[in-house]
Parts: sequence; structure tokens; C-alpha cells
Amino acid sequence: MSYDTIISGGTAHWSTHSAQADIAIRGEKIVAVGAPGTLKGDRKTRIIDARGMDVIPGCMDAHVHLALPFCGTVSCDDFDSGTRAAACGCITTVIDFAIPGKDQSLADADQVWHEKSDGIAHVDYTWHLAITNQRHIAEIPKMVKRGLPTFKEFMIYESEGWNSDDGMLFATLESIRKLGAGAAMLLLHAESARVLDMLIARMHTPAMMKKYGARLHAMTRPNFVEAEAIERAIHWSHVTGGTLYIVHMSTGEGADLVKAAQARGTPVIAETCVQYLTTDDSVFARKDGHLYACCPQVKKKRDIERLWRAIGPDGGEVSVVSTDTCSFTREQKAMWKGDWTKIPMGMPGLDTMVPVMYTHGVRAGRITMNKLVDLCATAPARIMGLGDRKGQIAPGFDADIAIIDPKRTVTVDHRKLQSRCDWNPYQGEKMGGFAKVTLCRGAVVVEDHKFVGKRGWGRFLERERVGARVAGAPVTDG
Ligand code: URP
Ligand code: ZN
Ligand code: ZN
Repeated sequence: MSYDTIISGGTAHWSTHSAQADIAIRGEKIVAVGAPGTLKGDRKTRIIDARGMDVIPGCMDAHVHLALPFCGTVSCDDFDSGTRAAACGCITTVIDFAIPGKDQSLADADQVWHEKSDGIAHVDYTWHLAITNQRHIAEIPKMVKRGLPTFKEFMIYESEGWNSDDGMLFATLESIRKLGAGAAMLLLHAESARVLDMLIARMHTPAMMKKYGARLHAMTRPNFVEAEAIERAIHWSHVTGGTLYIVHMSTGEGADLVKAAQARGTPVIAETCVQYLTTDDSVFARKDGHLYACCPQVKKKRDIERLWRAIGPDGGEVSVVSTDTCSFTREQKAMWKGDWTKIPMGMPGLDTMVPVMYTHGVRAGRITMNKLVDLCATAPARIMGLGDRKGQIAPGFDADIAIIDPKRTVTVDHRKLQSRCDWNPYQGEKMGGFAKVTLCRGAVVVEDHKFVGKRGWGRFLERERVGARVAGAPVTDG
């Protein structure tokens, strides 16, 4: 058998084990995996020497917002810079959120997102569809047939026109349940809107803003704002049987609630983001603390510890790590002018998701390489309906592979990253885990730590069978 590429002699990591392996690629697919030296190329075969390197499946960021109109501006990373950042950070698939504008249907939003991304992206991509109107619920079956089986609702963001009430949440979960196990899933931004509004109104005074500045972001979002919302949503998932995925979970209380619900058989899955595993609200003491405003807000050190337990060897209640990339430059963040409710919310993340997990997770002894692969590649691929082609090093899977030099450590500097953002939450930190080589469907897009990809190589992915936390098994919904 002839091969286009052989990745030779590296330490390959799967979600279950690690081994020295050669990986052979033909066209866009992995075609063979064998013991070192067992796969032979011919004179045309490109050999990538991976001896001494970590070899992982290309990772997935299941939660990004590229070129999103939000908070009165547009997030500064688009499908060009965002997917370049992804490639250099070992990520070969990104999942955005197509959010309908006023009076738009889900089909309209799908078209708008194709216009933003087709012919531009450097790695593969797809999106969740945001349900922002009761009428969107009727479109769910048609969108599932189109290969878009994941839907998103926001419990907040009334001013953007994006918010869902409990009735919409309930009806969406019912509709998902009716389609049968594994057909569709609801992703949810869980924060208690009315209590949050009340806390914001109470603290939105010139005196409070003068005294506390951007710290009010954290002060108005105590843990119970997220916990109550998760608790309520779990209730609706339990009674409807509709599969629920809590996005960007930031609290220890959330992890406790999800764990208890999973033990009762409620079909709930949870995701956290790297910022909730690394950063606490003491950042608001910094002069540039407003840069860190994101939604939900970063919480306390004890939440960080609880979330590491939830993804660690004794946890499992949190299945996916993502970024919630929503980058805003210093100039965009400066729109706040002392009023924290006007800060564009979100941070850059695609360059550094895997490096953070490698550095704060693997090197710090909190998780194994296998767990990193599971959280950042294998589990999100299965849960998001790509489990038969992404997130695994195995014959038949897309040749999405990242190679990491375990001896390399760099100092994070936003000027050397691919994101257009002119700051980075990890600026100045020493990190490993950046891609030495990345292949996306067989094409080398990063070589020797440099981006070499082609605009437009990234392809839109149709998906099906969502919600499988365990190999082959969608979360039961009955
Ligand atoms: O701060 C964030 N996360 N911005 C993006 C919108 C969201 O809620 O995910
Ligand atoms: Zn959100
Ligand atoms: Zn988000």
C-alpha cells in the first residue's frame, strides 16, 4: 500500500493509552497505525520524524465566537485569524455559534455563517444554531437533517435579543427528545437572568463604579447566579428527557449539580473553559483587569480546584474543555470607560487552549496526556456528532494530527500568536504544548512551529449522532 505521509516513531496518545507508533496517511485519511518501523513508504512518501515527540489527534474547540457582533462591536478574530490560531494551538476543528439576527430564521443564520467562513478557514469548522425565538423551535428537524444537530439557548442577553425563557427551554428540550436518542442536543448558557439584572441594577451607581471599577463584573455574578440556572435547566432536562449540554461552566456548585444529575440518569453533559481552570477574580485588582471581563465571569480559587477535580481521574462530570473564544482588542475593551456593563465580554483562547491544558494539566501532574486527548479531542468529537471521523488516531479517521515537542517551552507573547488580539490572558507565562506540526485532513498546516496552511483548506462539517459521553453511546434520554 502506498502512503502520502508517515508520522514515524512518536509517542502517540489516545484517550485510553499511549504507545510508540507509526501513523500512515493517504489523501485526507489515516490508513494505518503500526508499531515503529512496521509501516514502509516509497520514494514519494513524506516522512515526518516524530521521535521524542508527543503525537495527539487534532483537537476540537467546540465553543468559539468568530467575527461575532456582540456588545456593540464585533469580535476581532474571524475565520481566518481564528483558525490560524487554532492550527498553531493543535486544534483542527472549531465549532462556532450561528446566531440569527432580528427576524432571521435558523436557515438564515446558517447562510450568514457560511458567508463568514466558506473559503476562509484554515481548519475544519461547523456551528451550533442559536434559538432566539419561539419560531426557531419548529426548524429543529430540518436543521438536524442539514447536519446541524446542536442548538444553543442563552438564559441572558435580553439586550442582544438572544434570551430564552423557561418555556422556550422546555419546548426545545421536548422537541429534541421527540427526535429520539442521539439526534439532537441543546447547549445552554446558564445564568439566572432576573437575579443578575437585579444585582446589576443595584450596583450600577456612580459611587459603586468609582469604588470597584471592573470588579463589579465579578461582584454582580456570584456563584448562585450560575448554580440556580443550571439547577433549573437540569430539572427541565430531567422531566423532558431532552439532552442538555451546559456550556462554559464556571462554578464548583455547577459541577456538583451536574454530577448529581448524571447519577440520577438525567441526560446532562458539561463543558468548562480553560479560563475557569486557570484564572480567578483577583485579576480585577489589576489595572487592566477589565480586559478579563467575560461571561460567565471567572470565579474563585476553590471553583478552579473543583473544576480540575471534575475533569480529573476521580471526576468525569465535566466532559469537554473549550475556550469560548470571543476576542476583543484593548481598543474595543476601552469602550467601557469606567462602566463595567459596557465592557465587550470575552477573551482570545484558540492559540492557547491546548498549551494551557498541557502546561497547567499534564506538566503540573493534574491530568495525563490521555485525559488531555479525551477532553480536547475524543470526547468533544463524540459529543458533537463527529465521533466517526474526528478525535482519534485510527484507520478511517480524518488525518488530523498534532505533534508537540515535550522539551519546548515558550513565553506567551500575543505579538507572536495568530490571534488579532493585542493582549493575551497568559501574556508572559511560560508554556509548552504548542504545535510543532499540525495536519488537517492530511495537509500540513503548521510546520516547525510556523503556520503554513492555506486559506480555504478548512471544510464545513456536517454532523450526526450527538451526546455520546462514552464511546458509541448517546446519553440515554428516556
Ligand atoms: O464572554 C463571553 N463568553 N462572550 C461570548 C458570549 C457567550 O456567552 O458565550
Ligand atoms: Zn455564553
Ligand atoms: Zn460563548
